[in-house]
Amino acid sequence: MEVSGHTALITGGGTGIGLALAEQLSRLDNTVLICGRREEPLEQVTQRLANVHYRVCDVSQPDERRKLADWATSEFEQLDLLVNNAGIQRVVSFLSGERDLEDADQEIFTNLVAPIHLSTLLIPHLQDQPEPAIVNITSGLAFTPLAGVPVYCATKAALHSLSLTLRHQLRSTPIKVFEIAPPMVASELHGRRRDPEQESHLMSAGEAASGIIQALQEDRYEVALGSAERLREQREALFSALNG
Ligand SMILES: NC(=O)c1ccc[n+]([C@@H]2O[C@H](COP(=O)([O-])OP(=O)(O)OC[C@H]3O[C@@H](n4cnc5c(N)ncnc54)[C@H](OP(=O)(O)O)[C@@H]3O)[C@@H](O)[C@H]2O)c1
Repeated sequence: MEVSGHTALITGGGTGIGLALAEQLSRLDNTVLICGRREEPLEQVTQRLANVHYRVCDVSQPDERRKLADWATSEFEQLDLLVNNAGIQRVVSFLSGERDLEDADQEIFTNLVAPIHLSTLLIPHLQDQPEPAIVNITSGLAFTPLAGVPVYCATKAALHSLSLTLRHQLRSTPIKVFEIAPPMVASELHGRRRDPEQESHLMSAGEAASGIIQALQEDRYEVALGSAERLREQREALFSALNG
C-alpha cells in the first residue's frame, strides 16, 4: 500500500515505537493523530512535528475509546489507518495471590480489549476509505512467551490470533490487516530505560518504525522484526511437525 497521504491514528504515539512511527509517517506527508494518558509528551510531539494532532485518552477505558473514535472520525474525516500500538507490560507472579491482579487487568484492557473495541468502532468508517488498514503491534513474545510477564505474553498471543481472524472477516472489504511483531526494543515499556550500553544492543524505536512502514509498503501482512522472526519461525516449525 501507499505510505503517504493517509490519516493515521496511533494509540500510544507519544513515546517509543508509536512516537518513531508518528515521526516517520509525518515526514512521509501523512496526517497523524496520537493519544496517550500523559499530555506532556503528546504536546511536545505536536509542537515539533507537522501534521500531528493529539488527544489525551486512556484506551483501557471504554468511554474514552468511544470519545477517541468520535474525535478522530469527526475532526479528521479521511481517517484511514488505525495503529493499535499502546501497550503496557507488567511482571506478574502466580505465587503472589491476588496482589498482582490489578496490573494484570490493566494489561488485558490496554493490550487486548482496546484494540478489539477500537477496531470495532472504526471499521464502519475505515471501510468507506480508498486504502484503509488496521495495524496491530504484537511482539515476538506472542509466539514464544517469557514466563515473568505471563499476562503480557497472553495478550500479545491473543492479539496475534485476533489479527488472523480480523483479516479473514474483513477480506471482502478494502481494509487490510497487518500484524507487526517487534523484538525487544529500547523504550519505556519495561518501566525504566536501560543504560545506553545495554540499549545499544536492542532494536531502536526508529528501526522498529521503519520495519512497520516497510511491511505496509510491501503488503506483508504478518511480519516479525529482527530477532522476533526466530521466535515466530520456531513456532511455525513446531506447528508443522505436530500437524504434519
Ligand atoms: N519495547 C519492546 O521491547 C517491545 C517489544 C515488542 C512489542 N512491543 C510493543 O510495542 C508497543 C509500543 O511499546 P513501546 O516499546 O513503544 O513502549 P512505550 O514507549 O512504553 O510506549 C507505549 C505507549 O502506550 C501508551 N499507553 C500505555 N497505556 C495506555 C493507555 N491505557 N491509554 C493510552 N495510551 C497508553 C503510553 O503512553 P502513556 O503512558 O502516556 O499512556 C506510551 O506512549 C506496545 O504494544 C508493546 O507491547 C514493544
